[in-house]
Amino acid sequence: MLARWRASLQLRVVVLTTMLGLAVVVGVGSFLLDGIADGLVAERQEVALADAARSAQTAQQQFDAATTTSSAEVEQLAGDVVSSLEGAGPDRVRGVILLRAVGSQDVAGSGQFVVRDIASEGLEASDVPMALREAVVDSEVQQLQIVDTSAGQAAPSLVVGSTVTLPRAGEFELYFVYSLDSEEQTVSLVRTTFVGGGVALVLLVGAVAWVVARMVVEPVREAAGTAERLTGGHLDERMRVRGSDDLARLARAFNEMAAGMQQHIEQLEELSRLQRRFVSDVSHELRTPLTTIRMAGEVLHDAREGFDPAAARSAELLLTQLERFDTLLQDLLEISRFDAGAASLEPDPQDVRDLVNRVVEFTSTLAERRGSQVVVSAPAAACTAEVDARRIERVLRNLVGNAIEHGESRPIEITVVCDEHAVAVGVRDHGVGLQASQLPRVFDRFWRADPARARTTGGSGLGLAIALEDTRLHGGWLEVWGRPGQGCHFVLTVPRTAGRALRNSPLPVVPLGWREPVAALPAGPNREL
Ligand SMILES: Nc1ncnc2c1ncn2[C@@H]1O[C@H](COP(=O)(O)OP(=O)(O)OP(=O)(O)O)[C@@H](O)[C@H]1O
Ligand SMILES: [Mg+2]
Repeated sequence: MLARWRASLQLRVVVLTTMLGLAVVVGVGSFLLDGIADGLVAERQEVALADAARSAQTAQQQFDAATTTSSAEVEQLAGDVVSSLEGAGPDRVRGVILLRAVGSQDVAGSGQFVVRDIASEGLEASDVPMALREAVVDSEVQQLQIVDTSAGQAAPSLVVGSTVTLPRAGEFELYFVYSLDSEEQTVSLVRTTFVGGGVALVLLVGAVAWVVARMVVEPVREAAGTAERLTGGHLDERMRVRGSDDLARLARAFNEMAAGMQQHIEQLEELSRLQRRFVSDVSHELRTPLTTIRMAGEVLHDAREGFDPAAARSAELLLTQLERFDTLLQDLLEISRFDAGAASLEPDPQDVRDLVNRVVEFTSTLAERRGSQVVVSAPAAACTAEVDARRIERVLRNLVGNAIEHGESRPIEITVVCDEHAVAVGVRDHGVGLQASQLPRVFDRFWRADPARARTTGGSGLGLAIALEDTRLHGGWLEVWGRPGQGCHFVLTVPRTAGRALRNSPLPVVPLGWREPVAALPAGPNREL
């Protein structure tokens, strides 16, 4: 779920917009609802106060006008007034309660009429809170309070009280009870409408966000897909352009970019093809004259004894340089074949130990000349792998030749290791070594650590480039480790079965005793070099 949340911009936009919409709707809704409820109650209070004042005045006038001679008559009068005040019908607007004022007692024998408390149907004297009663009696002006009456009503009521004087019966409190039922109903209706409207609004916001996000995200997804396919080499891929809005502009710009890139790539490919062709043609063209020159050189070389010393030396120089020239030309032709994709693998089961021994044999003269001792350590059992013997030998020849060349006469160790998937050959020398910055470059064509020296005596700098191509052809790895003054370690790993992918090498490129992070090896397993 978390992964989906992270991966989908659309989901995030929709969820966040909906949450935000919900928060706004709840906030605004409750603010409005509170305002409406307060407004309704305030208005009702105003009306109730005016109404109660008028009615209380009417009642007082009726009491004042009456001529009563007994308690029963006063009580009758009070009952009549109360029922005339409360209005008729089941949907009575107000209830009335008439109570003897708190604090004023019937005084027996004082000649005062005694009147019992009267309340409209459904109301009781106890519905009026004591605090309100005291306030009414004390202040003698209208008092108002919102009260939950006992009569099983859902809504609270508005109670407005004032005092009236009954003829010869003393001071009474007169309360008008207004039900807030209709206000409550209005508020609850508004609330229901708000909730319904709010839910609809939030859903709408979510839907709009979904549509908008989709409109924006879809082209972005399409662009990403197209870009991936372009990267994958499908240079003809383009985005669809619809309409003329911003997204269409994006698509158009993207397509123009892709077209520009395609054109450039094709130009470069063409150029590179021409260059390769040129190198290959030149090498081919040079072969015939070179063979002739070489033959002539050999004739001169053979006859050098009859020359004067300077001419004889020249004949020798001529031949060595012609040999170098020949090797260089062969290397160039080989590289052109790789570039043209014409190099093919002829795998054959070979014991890699035999190949190593052949190479050691082949390089023994050079090693002797350089005073280097070559030590081979290989398992007793055969290490067979399906390889192209000519190519692997060429790789190893170059590795061992380089090690002797740069090994400063110190011993060179060749290790052969194999596991069930792969065979690895490591060539370790203890010579000049390589700096970290040089490691990624050793496989570059014509690259030499010391060009000045190499140009006259050393090789062409194509050896490792060809070795890498040969290794690649086998689906293998050619790794390098080196430290200045500490020598180098080159490891060639090839799968035992031709065409199988390599996952790891049985021989680590970092020699034993050198603990360093793999990141310090810029050449790494150079599958991508
Ligand atoms: N074992 C090593 N120790 C130190 N430097 C090395 C070693 N192997 C290769 N190099 C450096 O890498 C460079 C490139 O090697 P590469 O084999 O490609 O070319 P080369 O040996 O100069 O010429 P070629 O192999 O074509 O005759 C060498 O010139 C050398 O500077
Ligand atoms: Mg070399």
